[in-house]
Amino acid sequence: MKKVFITGIGSGLGRAFVNIFLENGYSVYALSRHLPEDFKDRVKFEKADLLSLENIYRSADNLLAGVESIDLVILNAGLLTPLKDIHDTPIYEMNRMMDINVWANKIIIDYFIDKKIKIDQIVAISSGASVNGNRGWHGYSISKAALNMLVKLYSREMENTHLTALAPGLILTPMLEEFVLRADEEKFPSVKRIRQSPKMSPEEAADRIFRLIPKLKEFESGSYVDIRKI
Ligand SMILES: NC(=O)c1ccc[n+]([C@@H]2O[C@H](COP(=O)([O-])OP(=O)(O)OC[C@H]3O[C@@H](n4cnc5c(N)ncnc54)[C@H](OP(=O)(O)O)[C@@H]3O)[C@@H](O)[C@H]2O)c1
Repeated sequence: MKKVFITGIGSGLGRAFVNIFLENGYSVYALSRHLPEDFKDRVKFEKADLLSLENIYRSADNLLAGVESIDLVILNAGLLTPLKDIHDTPIYEMNRMMDINVWANKIIIDYFIDKKIKIDQIVAISSGASVNGNRGWHGYSISKAALNMLVKLYSREMENTHLTALAPGLILTPMLEEFVLRADEEKFPSVKRIRQSPKMSPEEAADRIFRLIPKLKEFESGSYVDIRKI
């Protein structure tokens, strides 16, 4: 049975990923704050708040002790805080995004390397915000740009694992609805563009990414790939 490890399954894309991998017969391992009721007994789950960096390594070990190989790792958990100018964004708020969007992933990848768990493929969920630098995306843009580089750097060290930082396109999830679609479109022009653009449901996005995963291997390991451009 194939194994997938996913972070952040409480809502949005991560939750939809669990459904599609279960439907396709995968054994699902998840680290997250919340386990949706319908996944109880169907997912190997360890409760983890990825903001508590000091606990992540132990949580990963509680979940994965004895596991020797994993086919696919999806680093999905992410944090965006309300759009605002970077001038108005305190560093402590940006650090929270760095912790979840970057450093939590470093700790998890380090765990796999330390424990010599064989990983065939890692897909870190990045964002178009990592490269387009639109007004108002503050520490989220910075953290996703850092995530792209984190993935590239690990690709140099992990010869037997294929890594991708994947921008998944626009998906109607709590993150997009709460922090982007409610923001001021006069001040932040990207908000208007996003309102007018087609958006996927989490299920559509998870299905599209699921089917794309083998194709990602055609890109050089460590690449940033935007789903809208392939
Ligand atoms: N929606 C979009 O249009 C879009 C576009 C580009 C990139 N993305 C990226 O896609 C990924 C999924 O986001 P989403 O849109 O599905 O948003 P979401 O519904 O807000 O989901 C965020 C996920 O991250 C997890 N998470 C957040 N804080 C956490 C914490 N402290 N500890 C552990 N897990 C935490 C949540 O799980 P728990 O609640 O269980 O903790 C949740 O499953 C993120 O990396 C996001 O940056 C989304």
